Amino acid sequence: MPELALAITEALSERFGERIDVDASLPGLDELGRIASHCVHRHYLARDIAPDLLRLLCACAMSAPSKSDLQQADILIVRDKAKIHTIADLLPEMPWLRETPVFLVFLANGRRLPQISKKRGKPFPNDHLDLFFNATVDAAIVMTTLLRAAEAVGLGCCPISVIRDHAATIGEMFALPEKVIPVAGMCVGWPAGKVGVTPRLSLNTTVHEERFSENFAELDAYDRRRAVTRPYRKQREPERFGRNEFYGWSEDKARQYAVPLRADFGAFVRAQGFNLD
Ligand SMILES: Cc1cc2nc3c(=O)[nH]c(=O)nc-3n(C[C@H](O)[C@H](O)[C@H](O)COP(=O)(O)O)c2cc1C
Repeated sequence: MPELALAITEALSERFGERIDVDASLPGLDELGRIASHCVHRHYLARDIAPDLLRLLCACAMSAPSKSDLQQADILIVRDKAKIHTIADLLPEMPWLRETPVFLVFLANGRRLPQISKKRGKPFPNDHLDLFFNATVDAAIVMTTLLRAAEAVGLGCCPISVIRDHAATIGEMFALPEKVIPVAGMCVGWPAGKVGVTPRLSLNTTVHEERFSENFAELDAYDRRRAVTRPYRKQREPERFGRNEFYGWSEDKARQYAVPLRADFGAFVRAQGFNLD
């Protein structure tokens, strides 16, 4: 399918500023096309997602690979408008939460495995950082797979990690027990409009061959390339950092991380019973 192959080349060129030719005879171009043109959606139609469809998406997401087949990721489905609005009230800077018909919370469940060990009368000498890490990685993979499945059927998604700014409140709200933590939330709905791809750092910056090689040479070019389609409407903290004539991604991210963010998350994770040593 030459049109599909060309569309992928175009999406990737917009994303990475590099021409990547696509063999039109490759199988799976429709899937590659959706992956290449991915974008988060932050506006949704006032239309529900049928429970059967959501069940299907959860089943597809839970078909993702799992570290040692330990299956340490869970999905919590929130449809109750009152609960969605309570979360939206916590995050006024993200009004898209109010529009979403469904809010999902992806959980790292480091609880089931030690409980199974107990049920099977076995010791569990693995209560350390790796338990937290494995469960978190599994949850992230399940989230990504759900996003892929949802986009395949025409839904739009927006992961929401900012719920972790209110991790304890979210934990209480959903009765999260010891060793279960929210990794991220996700809005899922029928997109209310079209969104373009967001440019990423060049592959020369982020893809390494045979050995790690740090490369900032293309950062300025990335800032400029990205600004063409994704200019920032507002500069962060101009009173502290001044107002730049050109304000690109690297300046924005440096300013974003010039204030402590979520510094209490480790304390929350420990309070939830994870051992991070
Ligand atoms: C783990 C994770 C957490 C995210 N958290 C938020 C969030 O809290 N709020 C939000 O609006 N977008 C969030 N996003 C969406 C990113 O901002 C978005 O993926 C990024 O800007 C790139 O845009 P694109 O996905 O359309 O290419 C998150 C994405 C990921 C992967």
